[in-house]
Amino acid sequence: MTEQTPSEPIIVADDLQLVFRRRGSHTLAMDHVSFRVERGRTLALVGQSGSGKSTTARTVLGLQRPDGGRVRVCGEDVHALSKDALRRLRRRMQVVLQDPFGQLNRRQRVSQIIEAPMVAHVYLSPRERKVRVRELGDAVGLTARQLDRRPHELSGGQCQRVAIARALAVQPDVVVLDEAVSALDVSVRAQILNLLSSLQGELGLTYLFITHDLAVARYMAHDLAVMSEGRIVEIAGREELFRNPRHPYTQELLAAIPRGDLTKGEIE
Ligand SMILES: Nc1ncnc2c1ncn2[C@@H]1O[C@H](COP(=O)(O)OP(=O)(O)OP(=O)(O)O)[C@@H](O)[C@H]1O
Ligand SMILES: [Mg+2]
Repeated sequence: MTEQTPSEPIIVADDLQLVFRRRGSHTLAMDHVSFRVERGRTLALVGQSGSGKSTTARTVLGLQRPDGGRVRVCGEDVHALSKDALRRLRRRMQVVLQDPFGQLNRRQRVSQIIEAPMVAHVYLSPRERKVRVRELGDAVGLTARQLDRRPHELSGGQCQRVAIARALAVQPDVVVLDEAVSALDVSVRAQILNLLSSLQGELGLTYLFITHDLAVARYMAHDLAVMSEGRIVEIAGREELFRNPRHPYTQELLAAIPRGDLTKGEIE
């Protein structure tokens, strides 16, 4: 079955298992990880460093093969696809990472960076691509002058705008954001979160949003999955999770947040 039934969530992760083995030691990076994300919604994966968030994201993206379980994205079984089919599916799931500068090609101008995925994935004339680059620049708040610069001439927040524009260039269904705002100052972070929210509304994007910051997760996510040592210990809607955390680990995480950080005002 490769077709997505109308009722199937856009991401379905079922019972993912993965052990990293290295010189006698092994790490359980995913332990029975299951979750679903509906189209147009945001699931946050939260948890401390090493809890398996990025491994889970990489598995969804088809970059990490699990030992067991499966992931369906847009109705396709990610790890059962041919190379070609996976490449086609990749167009529909894009990624934004933490390091603003590291994820961009420093030799290219911003406009070339945003154009690159279009060259690889969609059939547009060079002229059409130029128009689209300008539209994308507008959508993420980059000026024509900034589009002409190279990454090192931009701020961290501006670089994240470039990474977002590049992700959107091929009109994806899913965007995986792995600590995408963690390296930014508080006020810039708020701007980028607001941008991501409004783009989601306009474009119907589905986000898998990874963060160790519960205040950020609370602002962005419809649902939260709390990970610890490779397991999802609790998964719930935002209101429910913050009002009534059930798992002791979630309670611990919530207790560790400075009070002020959980008000929406901190983020906005
Ligand atoms: N390629 C790898 N080889 C061996 N172990 C790995 C590999 N990738 C991740 N791990 C281990 O798997 C566990 C989960 O790592 P992962 O990167 O998914 O955590 P994370 O929740 O994203 O952490 P962080 O918040 O620090 O980014 C960690 O113990 C990590 O050391
Ligand atoms: Mg990580």
